[in-house]
Parts: sequence; C-alpha cells; structure tokens
Amino acid sequence: MERTVYIAPSILAADFSRLGEHVREAEVAGADLIHVDVMDGRFVPNISVGLPVVAALRAVTRLPLDVHLMIAEPARYVEAFAHAGADILTIHPEADVHFHRTLQQIHALGIRAGVSLNPGTSETALRYVLPLVDLVLVMTVNPGFGGQNFLPEILDKVRAVRYMLDEAKKPALLSVDGGITVGTVPLVIAAGANTLVAGSAVFGAAEGVASAIAALRVAAVGAFER
Ligand code: DX5
Ligand code: ZN
Repeated sequence: MERTVYIAPSILAADFSRLGEHVREAEVAGADLIHVDVMDGRFVPNISVGLPVVAALRAVTRLPLDVHLMIAEPARYVEAFAHAGADILTIHPEADVHFHRTLQQIHALGIRAGVSLNPGTSETALRYVLPLVDLVLVMTVNPGFGGQNFLPEILDKVRAVRYMLDEAKKPALLSVDGGITVGTVPLVIAAGANTLVAGSAVFGAAEGVASAIAALRVAAVGAFER
C-alpha cells in the first residue's frame, strides 16, 4: 500500500478574520495542501468564499491551493479561479452537464483537475473521465457545511474508487472530505484514501492547528501499519 498521506486543512473552519495567520500556521505544521471550499448558495445551500480569497491566499502560502468548487455551472469560473492562483480545481459532475469538457478546460489552463462525488453519486461517474482526473474527492458528508458527521456507508465508494485508480494505473490523489477526524482517518486510509481534507479537526481543534495536524498524521500512519 502507498504510504504517503497528504493533509489538506479546509479553511472553512478557520477564523476568517485571521485567515492568513491560520494558513501560515498550517503550512509550518506540515500541511500539504490548502483546501478552499467555494459555495454559491445554489449548488449547495450555503455561501462561503470566492475569487478574492483565493487570490489573497496565493500571496500568503506556497502550498498548492486545492479549490473545491461547490458551484453550479463551474465552467463559467474555471479560468478566473486559475488566474486567481488555484493549483487544483475540483468540480462536481452533478453541477455540470459537460464536466468532461470542463476538465479539459481546466487542464488547458495549465493546472490540475479534480472530480468530487456527492454521497448519492456513484463512482461510475468517473469512468469516462478518468484520463482527465488528477484528484478524486469523495464526499463523506453532503457538501455545504463543516462539522457534519462522517457517513460510514461511503467507505464502500472509497474502496471502489481505489480499485478503479489502481486498475487504470492512475496516480490521482484519492481525497476524502467531511467528518475527517482522528477517529475516521483509520477507516478512510484502510479504504484506500491518501489525501485527507479536514476543517473542524484542524482549525476547530482546542489543542491548536499544529497538534491537530500531527494527530491526523499519526492516525494515518497507524492505519498503514495495521
Ligand atoms: C463541506 C466541505 C468540506 C468542509 C469539511 O461541504 O466540502 O471541505 O470544510 O468540514 P469538516 O472537516 O468540518 O467536516
Ligand atoms: Zn471541501
């Protein structure tokens, strides 16, 4: 089993009045990516941040910006997000009738492309776009809010995506998003995830960002060793 695990703190749970400091703290603590949740109030029932925040983050961190577009018709915005400094743009097939073409457009902009699957969406949505996918983001909650409970039934989907990627010899990141904590990390790692998105468990942790990231890493390494 591939033993590298990437930790992607989600800024959704950060203190937005101190966002730069929080992100730098995560970088120093060994975060691998910064996960930015963009919500439009249409595709998901919540509104979060957009282009100016991505551009501001670009100026304060060297880490790749892993931008999760929870927006309807994402094709309208991929160019703007690439120019704002996104390194990975992840779109939802449920939000884009032509997501194959949008993935091509993201690559044409010179950045990496991801596909995110809602809890109710089958991994078969990936089948014909696999050559275009650098990251698969399996939602382990329904998107829209931080701090929700992990859905254990989605572990089957993580296993199915791991199988598809291995069969295709596709070195895409297999990321999980929603309810990721020291308690759920062993489950998702055992199912084949290698990238952990965590909001509340990092920026909401009483023990602070650095200890929280270290604890997630220990939980992941422990799962590899089992
Ligand atoms: C949910 C977002 C997540 C969110 C996760 O719609 O996509 O990235 O920040 O939050 P936690 O880790 O608190 O479940
Ligand atoms: Zn997310």
